[in-house]
Amino acid sequence: MKVFLGLIIFVLTSFTYVLADIPCAERRIENQSVVCVCNTSYCDDITREIPSQSSFVTYTSSKDGLRFKKDGGIWNDSTSESCCSTTLEVFPDIKYQRIEGFGGAVTDSAGINWKSLPSVLQDSFIRSYFSANGLEYNMLRVPIGGCDFSTHAYAYNELPENDTQLSNYTLAPEDILYKIPMIKSIMQVATAPVHIVATTWSPPLWMKTHQTYGGFSRLKRQYYQTYADYHLKFLEKYNQSGIPVWGITTTNEPINGVISLASFNSLGWDMQEMGEWILNNLGPTIRNSAFKDLKILAGDDQRATMPYWFNVMFARYPKALDYVDGMAVHYYTDSIIPAAVFDAITLTHPEKFILATEACEGAFPWQKEKVLLGSWDRAITYIEDILEDLNYNLVGWIDWNLCLNLGGGPNWVGNFVDSPIIVDEDKQEFLKQPMFYVMGHFSKFIPRESIRIKVVEKRQLFTPNLRHVAFVTPKNTIVVIVHNNGQARNIRLKNGGKQATFNLAAYSITTVEFPYE
Ligand SMILES: *[C@@H]1O[C@H](CO)[C@@H](O)[C@H](O)[C@H]1NC(C)=O
Ligand SMILES: *[C@@H]1O[C@H](CO)[C@@H](O)[C@H](O)[C@H]1NC(C)=O
Ligand SMILES: *[C@@H]1O[C@H](CO)[C@@H](O)[C@H](O)[C@H]1NC(C)=O
Ligand SMILES: *[C@@H]1O[C@H](CO)[C@@H](O)[C@H](O)[C@H]1NC(C)=O
Ligand SMILES: *[C@@H]1O[C@H](CO)[C@@H](O)[C@H](O)[C@H]1NC(C)=O
Ligand SMILES: *[C@@H]1O[C@H](CO)[C@@H](O)[C@H](O)[C@H]1NC(C)=O
Repeated sequence: MKVFLGLIIFVLTSFTYVLADIPCAERRIENQSVVCVCNTSYCDDITREIPSQSSFVTYTSSKDGLRFKKDGGIWNDSTSESCCSTTLEVFPDIKYQRIEGFGGAVTDSAGINWKSLPSVLQDSFIRSYFSANGLEYNMLRVPIGGCDFSTHAYAYNELPENDTQLSNYTLAPEDILYKIPMIKSIMQVATAPVHIVATTWSPPLWMKTHQTYGGFSRLKRQYYQTYADYHLKFLEKYNQSGIPVWGITTTNEPINGVISLASFNSLGWDMQEMGEWILNNLGPTIRNSAFKDLKILAGDDQRATMPYWFNVMFARYPKALDYVDGMAVHYYTDSIIPAAVFDAITLTHPEKFILATEACEGAFPWQKEKVLLGSWDRAITYIEDILEDLNYNLVGWIDWNLCLNLGGGPNWVGNFVDSPIIVDEDKQEFLKQPMFYVMGHFSKFIPRESIRIKVVEKRQLFTPNLRHVAFVTPKNTIVVIVHNNGQARNIRLKNGGKQATFNLAAYSITTVEFPYE
């Protein structure tokens, strides 16, 4: 009887999915993987199957061109290990961090590209990322004013100069034409409240020691309070436009403006000045305002800087830490700086969270192809980075531009990069890259409030290792995400006395979901 029931479940879960997906309209790219093309009459989608009791569902994307391919099976009581060279065992009682979410950035450039599409495609775009039939992103990063992914340099209240009252603080045409409409469309289809992190790249020039948007500059001392008010005004303006902001960071990549690293909008801070500003200006301004529950995220710079913000800034100004909810970290030095730097924060201050707030491929000078259509290698660097961050207790991962054009722009200083979606305005289509699907293997299946759990890998000798992470979700399921950067193999998943076996495709990422109890 049990076997019979199991068989029925097996048939139901493995062969007939309740919710049929629209498959990828694939375009193969020479020497690369595939991109999925969305046009005015066609766009692929993905629905989450609810795993029935004693079954599991798998979703696989691969270098070969699988995109969220569904499969599954049933758990059984066998304890035989003969099936497989690799076992992944989950321990749902051993719990780590709670997840905040996943997302991307609504820059001016993302908005401009999105708006260049016919309205039916604009809808497909938003649904692809945010809806129940898409990746179910639940976070966004939004620049306060301009950044390099704008068509020109600007800030709010550029005139009148020296205006400590910020009497002329109005939103820019870019907010009205692109960012706000895009965010509103997103809020309409998102499956969870969208948590927005807002960030200033540069204030108006009159607040700065050097009269340029890029290069070296610091905040003039007499404008410390004005710069705090500048943030508060933004929260008011966006909230009045119907967009609540969840958090802010304390300036984008503050080291850029100290060592003149970037030609784009920057403001330099050293650890000591930043500590002072948070303690005396930003912290009290926010906490005494109507937006007192706003999350304040310090850092917002590369991994290497994380311990310094903690060791220097908060050692010197420990009270500043009271105003800070967590740290924001960027991606661009992750290949050389070990994630162990996060331990300095998560182990000593478990009450503070770390959120990855910016990542993209193609940013380095030696990456000649800014947009590399169909690249599985770039998807791999995303997978490995997200897995590593999650395994070091980060609470979420926000990608950079939601979309860019075929050249990786627009960008007013020519700092072109890649994006998970590339918009082809002339052909009235957009291309979903491997990076897009990789993001979805995490974002769609690890909803907010999921909790990471322990997963242990056991392998036979000479079997290459896998990379993985596991969660219990608020949907009362367990989700395991596995990266196989090698040949296909059978693996065995173990949960208490039960096991499931399935095949991991070559060069693939697989998300497995099954009921918790
Ligand atoms: C849109 O894509 C579909 C699927 O690839 C294709 O059949 C159709 O011809 C395309 N339509 C246009 C207008 O390009
Ligand atoms: C594909 O790879 C081959 C061999 O490395 C190379 O000769 C060719 O130029 C590549 N094609 C493209 C479009 O990059
Ligand atoms: C049960 O597990 C064994 C051993 O791993 C495997 O060979 C068998 O196929 C599994 N049965 C089902 C129905 O999945
Ligand atoms: C207010 O800002 C606008 C640009 O947004 C500018 O054109 C105008 O001159 C400014 N007003 C004053 C009084 O400076
Ligand atoms: C603003 O302040 C700077 C520095 O004190 C001064 O050079 C400039 O003339 C002032 N601008 C105005 C419009 O008052
Ligand atoms: C933000 O806007 C909402 C809805 O318009 C309003 O109810 C709320 O009071 C505003 N929040 C703040 C802090 O002003």
